[in-house]
Amino acid sequence: MKLRKKNTLIKKQLVLLCGLLVSMNAYAIDGESIYKQTCIACHGEDGKGLLPGMPDLTEKQGRLSKDDAVLVKNMRDGYQSPGSPMAMPAKGGNSKLTDEDLKNVLQYMRKSF
Ligand code: HEC
Repeated sequence: MKLRKKNTLIKKQLVLLCGLLVSMNAYAIDGESIYKQTCIACHGEDGKGLLPGMPDLTEKQGRLSKDDAVLVKNMRDGYQSPGSPMAMPAKGGNSKLTDEDLKNVLQYMRKSF
């Protein structure tokens, strides 16, 4: 293969790769996508909770009125309040989520519910 042709090919591959990385990153930092992928199964589209024992995240003085730091810690490590029939699994069961991702989901929930 001629060198110029090869170079163009490599450039094309690089462009593709960058596109892929950017789109993966856009997914990772988008709170709404994370919520709809990972959290909606339990908390429901409107945050009121789909199963018995789920907290209603829309209550004004409810769970989301806690400090960001507390909520991020509880979402990251998992959390069960006294007497609760069910625990919040660490990172909602999606171990890939970073603290940054969880902050973004928190923002999404505060804005939407
Ligand atoms: C398997 C079901 C399930 C999934 C999936 C889930 N949660 Fe939860 N979540 C719970 C339950 C149950 C509680 C209440 C736990 C308790 O108070 O004992 C809870 C509580 C919470 C709380 C309140 C914590 C507190 O300090 O009171 C937040 C915030 C939260 N979840 C966010 C999320 C986010 C964000 C996701 C997705 C990344 C998620 N949850 C995925 C079940 C789930």
